[in-house]
Amino acid sequence: MLRLLLFVTAWLSLVLAEHKGKVYKFPEGFRWSTATASYQIEGAWNEDGRGLSIWDKFVRKPGKIIDNSTGDVSSDSYHKFREDIQLISDMGLKEYRFSFSWSRIFADGTPNSLNPAGVLYYHEVLDELISHGITPVVTLFHWDLPQGLQDRGGWLNRDVVDWYLDYAKFCFHEFGHKVQYWITHNEPIIHSTYGHCGLWGEHAPGGLKEHCDWAPYVVGHHMLLAHAYAYRYYHGTRGLGKGKVGITNHVLFPIAESQDDEKVRDLVLDFSLHWFNHPIFKRDYPDKMKAWLAYLSKKEGRSASRLPEFTPHELDLLSGSADFLGLNYYISMIVRTSSKPEVNMFGMDAPAKLWLSKKWMPVGREHSWIRSHPQGLEGLLDIIREEYDNPEVLITENGCMDTPGESLEDVTRIRYLGGHIAAVSKAISRGSKVAGYTLWSLIDNFEWADGYTNLFGVHQVDFDSPNKTRTPKKSSKFYADVVRNNALTWNS
Ligand SMILES: *[C@@H]1O[C@H](CO)[C@@H](O)[C@H](O)[C@H]1NC(C)=O
Ligand SMILES: *[C@@H]1O[C@H](CO)[C@@H](O)[C@H](O)[C@H]1NC(C)=O
Repeated sequence: MLRLLLFVTAWLSLVLAEHKGKVYKFPEGFRWSTATASYQIEGAWNEDGRGLSIWDKFVRKPGKIIDNSTGDVSSDSYHKFREDIQLISDMGLKEYRFSFSWSRIFADGTPNSLNPAGVLYYHEVLDELISHGITPVVTLFHWDLPQGLQDRGGWLNRDVVDWYLDYAKFCFHEFGHKVQYWITHNEPIIHSTYGHCGLWGEHAPGGLKEHCDWAPYVVGHHMLLAHAYAYRYYHGTRGLGKGKVGITNHVLFPIAESQDDEKVRDLVLDFSLHWFNHPIFKRDYPDKMKAWLAYLSKKEGRSASRLPEFTPHELDLLSGSADFLGLNYYISMIVRTSSKPEVNMFGMDAPAKLWLSKKWMPVGREHSWIRSHPQGLEGLLDIIREEYDNPEVLITENGCMDTPGESLEDVTRIRYLGGHIAAVSKAISRGSKVAGYTLWSLIDNFEWADGYTNLFGVHQVDFDSPNKTRTPKKSSKFYADVVRNNALTWNS
């Protein structure tokens, strides 16, 4: 009788599952989270002693932000953080990734300009999170370098490694008893290229076209070193070192258009995944990327490669300098070999043309930079598992912008999220150590050069109202269900 009952139950759940979709269960303790960044949400750009950052200056240059907007007020989370933390709690989340504004803590970027009000603000945010049972994940640098340091050369000046270390040390000591998870940098690949070249989309501080061939490599080099020194300090200092320190890398998944393009596709993978991960997980920049840039540099008549070299000591510091790999995934791109490098934001110097396949689900406006290709996330997790000896991965961002006409009924976002969450589950079932998934973003906010024209929140913000009223979109409910069940029911 019992066996019959079990059989019927099993059969029934199978039938129901087929109706409603496949169930993707997540491991116990899987960390569901959502994310924001200081300049994008805080506003209060000149309040309570905050110093200027490179973004405050950049948004005031004509023609840089598509709708001429700024983050001066944005979602006003500086004043409304308690409300925002309530939204996180309402979704059932136990984790939140956000960033510190360096110039709110050190107004000019150095310890001499310590701003107690800024320090107090982050204590209040952390206390509010902890009182809601939410674990903070803090990004130390999410692109808003203090302008005072930019005036001294910013990330192009080797001294920035020391400036960053002073800032990281202060944060580790001041907030270390409240923060268990630290992320040194957000997407160094985007900051070094968009921020210091400007051939593609342009970010602060803004770069010269003439510098495109070398500046991103120098900035990236210094960001990696700053990361390594911070990591070593954290784990080498008594009283600290109880938590985890990682880095968040933005990775594009390249797909060869045909068999003939596979070699170039591998090189694009060097410029996308390996550039900022190989030094940490495999001790140095990838060989093919080094050889390619050495070849180009020689052809250009230079005495040294445009890609800087690490000293043996620096390689020691870098090697193994992450307790987890933070992965931001948004898109895949098709790769075709091309003799003249075209406008190719993620391929950099690889001789390739890259584009979004028309076969993938469109998201956002026409010609948006996102189309949905969840298999790319699966593919990346497979590569990371195999190449890097299966490190702990934290998905630190995944999400998409609003699609016009949907407003609060954001069904395209739900399709995007569902597909990608299913992809994470599939990778886990193949052995990937994915510790958690972080949805970008909690609330609508200032989307860099796109201003307020591309909104990524699962809560809408009424930017026209003085109250900056938050309203849940349908996707927040969808995500809350996944979180509550620790499982996704999905047709894909
Ligand atoms: C932004 O400002 C520029 C002038 O600097 C103007 O030409 C353009 O129309 C403005 N765009 C919007 C969307 O307001
Ligand atoms: C302000 O916004 C919050 C949500 O963000 C809302 O609950 C509240 O009713 C709003 N107040 C006014 C006066 O609109």
